[in-house]
Amino acid sequence: MKILAIETSCDETAVALVEVKGGLNSPANSGPKFKILKSLVASQIKIHRPFGGVVPNLAKREHLKNLPILFGKLQLTIHNLQPNLVAVTVGPGLEPCLWTGINFAKEIKNQFASWRKKTKIIGVSHLEGHLYSFLLNPKSKIKFPAVALIVSGGHTILILMKDLTHLKKLGETRDDAVGECFDKVARLLNLSYPGGPEIEKIAKKGDEEAINFPRPMLNQKNYDLSFSGLKTSVLYYLRDSKIQTDQVADIAASFQKAAFDVLIKKTLRAVKEFKAKSIIVAGGVAANKTLAKMFKKAIKKDNLRLNLIIPETKFCTDNAAMIAASAYLNFLQNKKYKLVANSGLNFK
Ligand code: KG4
Ligand code: ZN
Repeated sequence: MKILAIETSCDETAVALVEVKGGLNSPANSGPKFKILKSLVASQIKIHRPFGGVVPNLAKREHLKNLPILFGKLQLTIHNLQPNLVAVTVGPGLEPCLWTGINFAKEIKNQFASWRKKTKIIGVSHLEGHLYSFLLNPKSKIKFPAVALIVSGGHTILILMKDLTHLKKLGETRDDAVGECFDKVARLLNLSYPGGPEIEKIAKKGDEEAINFPRPMLNQKNYDLSFSGLKTSVLYYLRDSKIQTDQVADIAASFQKAAFDVLIKKTLRAVKEFKAKSIIVAGGVAANKTLAKMFKKAIKKDNLRLNLIIPETKFCTDNAAMIAASAYLNFLQNKKYKLVANSGLNFK
């Protein structure tokens, strides 16, 4: 089957064309196998950078402009590559941006009579897109049960996966998402937007033990997380001490270490409790190579036999191929989301 996917939930306009076969088993066992024919992303970073964050109306305007251009680049016609499904993100995200994608999906379905008849539109959760992005790599070796950590600009969630489709939310952040915290701390340090990659880069030059920032909720016996206190303690540190420019790297490294210590400790606690055989880390913050290194080190230290699965960097940050992957699982399960923007959509 061929899936055309559209993603416009935040500040990346993305479309993808994906071919897929297989069922709901794990990929090693006749499960879904994806072939990405095209995956295009038009980044809006330069537009939002002067504002230090995403401006919803500007994002919507850019999606409206970019969608027809990206769609044109797919060079679909009535004759070639008619998709069986048009997959579109319905939430969570910025409502005006979500509507832009949903309306565009409806428009392209209506462009040819044969598409009107045979192509179905299928709504997708952006979070499930991140969760299933690992399926895009045919080499991912998933064994269940698995614990998945979704770390993005809007969410920080721990999920237990009994198999590909049985999901249970174990916990999530009670305040800021970890990506949001990186972006806010980067702003305090006068680094540019988006802050995650900037902090990762400058932290490489710093000493992660230089400042002992708090690790919120580290020892609480639940799977919830919190990052706003960590951000505030960076703010107080900057206010109370006279910072030299060469200390920025130490602050970035110490902040990053504190945030990742919490993510890793909570994830490994879930792994032990539920006897998980794999860890999936997904979402924009999963693009951080220091996080991967720290996870590997902690897994080794605890002598755990685990597959650590992190999607390729281009599939950690927002993209439409992951929306196609998630749409296929929805299709196989007959799982339906209304074609209505749902900014607060989350795992149950
Ligand atoms: O998944 P994503 O592209 O969009 C959302 O769904 O939010 O995640 C974006 C977030 C931003 O907060 C960005 O700063 C963060 O992911 N991010 C990173 C890195 N690359 C992106 N955070 C830490 N290190 C990175 N290398
Ligand atoms: Zn995302």
